[in-house]
Amino acid sequence: MTTARGVALITGGASGIGEACARRFAKDGHRIAILDVNDAAAEAVARDLGGPDDALWRNVDVSDHGAVEAAVREVADAWGRIDICVASAGILENASTVLEADPEAHDRLWQVNYNGTVNTCRSVGKVMQAQKAGAMITLGSINSYVPLPLPAYCPSKTAITRLTELLAVELGRFNVRVNGLAPTYVLTPALKARIDSGDRDPDVIRNSGALDMFVMPEDIANAAAFLCSDQARAITGIMLPVDAGHLAWTPYQNYAGGVPWQS
Ligand SMILES: NC(=O)c1ccc[n+]([C@@H]2O[C@H](COP(=O)([O-])OP(=O)(O)OC[C@H]3O[C@@H](n4cnc5c(N)ncnc54)[C@H](O)[C@@H]3O)[C@@H](O)[C@H]2O)c1
Repeated sequence: MTTARGVALITGGASGIGEACARRFAKDGHRIAILDVNDAAAEAVARDLGGPDDALWRNVDVSDHGAVEAAVREVADAWGRIDICVASAGILENASTVLEADPEAHDRLWQVNYNGTVNTCRSVGKVMQAQKAGAMITLGSINSYVPLPLPAYCPSKTAITRLTELLAVELGRFNVRVNGLAPTYVLTPALKARIDSGDRDPDVIRNSGALDMFVMPEDIANAAAFLCSDQARAITGIMLPVDAGHLAWTPYQNYAGGVPWQS
């Protein structure tokens, strides 16, 4: 599927993980369609990737299902198919409690992160179903696996796991694979800005997994490229942690008997 020149549609492709995926799939020879609300950044990435014949962008708010449907149709009509989709558009949340979280911010986060993923996968899924080929990537998080104090974000990422499984089952018979990626803290521009402003401690981030490293957007794009390649032809319906060992590390560190080998 990814051997010939294909078409990759990427929501949130103007920044962070989506941008890294756009650059990776372009490097692999694919045409890129970016749907994003950040016009200036989306335009800059698309221009960098070769301009209208190689990379286009559209201002699309993924929470608007009509706008997503129209843009997906436009891309499929213009370039004949959509081989790869990465639903990376998303917004973050500051730590809070379920009882204290702002209801409007809660609803908006679900509209973008969850409904936006549904809207994208539904519209692209119809194209892939008709062409009987394709691979989709949703963006979960370590929040898909464990509770963190992000009362809208955390459940939305858990729901994306189940959505990914449903889509994988519904589309499997049409030769369409659907997988999710569950990153730990990724050193995106947004996280860098929080570190630079003193809101986040880089040492805490770096030491939050088994591997002593910062996970970069390119690490997530590499996993996306693998899952969308023929190398992963037998893999669908999974939520793959790309977490430097965070999910193994955290319960281990909290063992009530104490960890044997660390100070
Ligand atoms: N960065 C991390 O540490 C991390 C960890 C786990 C999961 N994720 C997930 O990865 C995805 C990408 O995050 P990122 O860190 O690259 O963020 P980012 O802020 O760098 O990029 C997100 C992109 O989505 C776009 N966007 C926001 N709202 C939109 C909307 N309504 N419609 C269309 N586009 C919209 C933004 O303009 C931006 O270009 C998100 O789903 C996020 O939850 C990120």
